[in-house]
Amino acid sequence: MANVVVVGAQWGDEGKGKIVDWLSERADVIARFQGGHNAGHTLVIDGKVYKLSLLPSGIVRPGKLSVIGNGVVLDPWHLVGEIAKLRGEGVEITPDNLMIAENAVLILPLHGELDRARESHNAVAKIGTTGRGIGPAYEDKVGRRAIRVADLADEATLALRVDRLMVHHDALRRGLGIEPIDREALLAQLREIAPQVLPYAKPVWKVMNEMRKAGKRILFEGAQGALLDIDFGTYPFVTSSNVIAGQAATGTGIGPGAIGFVLGIVKAYTTRVGEGPFPAELKDADGERLGERGREFGTVTGRKRRCGWFDAVLVRQTCATSGVSGIALTKLDVLDGFETLKICVGYDLDGERLDHLPIAADQQARCTPIYEELEGWSESTAGARSWADLPGAAVKYVRRIEELIQCPVALLSTSPERDDTILVTDPFED
Ligand code: GDP
Ligand code: IMO
Ligand code: MG
Repeated sequence: MANVVVVGAQWGDEGKGKIVDWLSERADVIARFQGGHNAGHTLVIDGKVYKLSLLPSGIVRPGKLSVIGNGVVLDPWHLVGEIAKLRGEGVEITPDNLMIAENAVLILPLHGELDRARESHNAVAKIGTTGRGIGPAYEDKVGRRAIRVADLADEATLALRVDRLMVHHDALRRGLGIEPIDREALLAQLREIAPQVLPYAKPVWKVMNEMRKAGKRILFEGAQGALLDIDFGTYPFVTSSNVIAGQAATGTGIGPGAIGFVLGIVKAYTTRVGEGPFPAELKDADGERLGERGREFGTVTGRKRRCGWFDAVLVRQTCATSGVSGIALTKLDVLDGFETLKICVGYDLDGERLDHLPIAADQQARCTPIYEELEGWSESTAGARSWADLPGAAVKYVRRIEELIQCPVALLSTSPERDDTILVTDPFED
């Protein structure tokens, strides 16, 4: 029996939420380990749509423990709002089924303000962030001036932390033309929200290790995707955390040995939201068609996602950096009806063929895709629940992807619905 880590293997929005929801039936604990409410994970259960940003996708299943680990940056006002929204949709959330790490860093209103001010003030430095303060909050974490969940319990500590933050932030704000922080108002806001967050605050590392010893099954839910990773992504057009599988251990306080199966979530084509290089991007009718059929609009910001062909070079690379054991291939149905399909199998950089994406930004921008063409299929794969339901050309497409990325398919998804999923290998039993 293995614990399972689910990670995005492209630029996010691969369908992690749907797969985590499906797998969570087999799990006891579902834990987020990085990112924050920049994530947007969609679950569709018997036609009912749930959109989660901060809460683990396991929260909709009764009897499961959902965990927000120390690697997450937590906006307490958003947390309370998301809990209220889900309760309104009939989901039960109490300190018995939701636990938040005491050492998780808080996102404050000033982080969102800074994020948005930077994005709008400086066209040169624009990243196309979600504007939710993720980057500035992580900056304060490594800058050793952040406020953490546990600090909410003590007024004197809170005041000290706010003073420390103000020294740094007021200087930045002056430069950007934003008024200084209102110390008393911020402290009052924090005092007001504290009793709504503190009941969930626990030593997550301890509970996780106890769960592990007791043989409970843990499912780690990654956010974003490996190409948005702060180290291995298309820097600087990335998010501000490590999102690859290794982060599951440091982001919850459990040793790396607790990670068994790494499930990479892979969309059958490629999308990206925000700025940055995207070699296999399509700016033509095929790209439009992928966007329309795949309903490629951001869950968090509503922005139109950029679309392109499947890029096997990138996924082979991200399977390596996360140590992916098997992939869940999603949205195969979106490709129904294309006469021919293309897969990017290499890049041309100034006349030289590359089998990986180079690190240097100027080289990334100059990489042009080398494509292989495959036959499409006219039949519908939407809602298929077994291999036997798939047309031959679709099976060939999937097999070719496995060969090119050097990683097997463990799950296949053919619609947004929970049960429209084909199981090849059970990650918990592998
Ligand atoms: P996440 O951020 O990785 O959880 O993915 P998002 O929820 O942001 O985006 C994935 C979108 O694709 C959601 O609207 C899902 O409901 C939808 N989706 C997931 N799997 C499939 C699939 O196999 N087929 C289709 N057509 N849609 C899917
Ligand atoms: P899920 O979990 C897709 C992108 C933003 C931007 C960059 C930095 O739903 O897959 P940030 O606000 O994190 O500082 O923005 O990262 N981004 C995502 N793109 N899916 C996500 O999450 C994303 N989270 C952040 O669009 O380009
Ligand atoms: Mg998403």
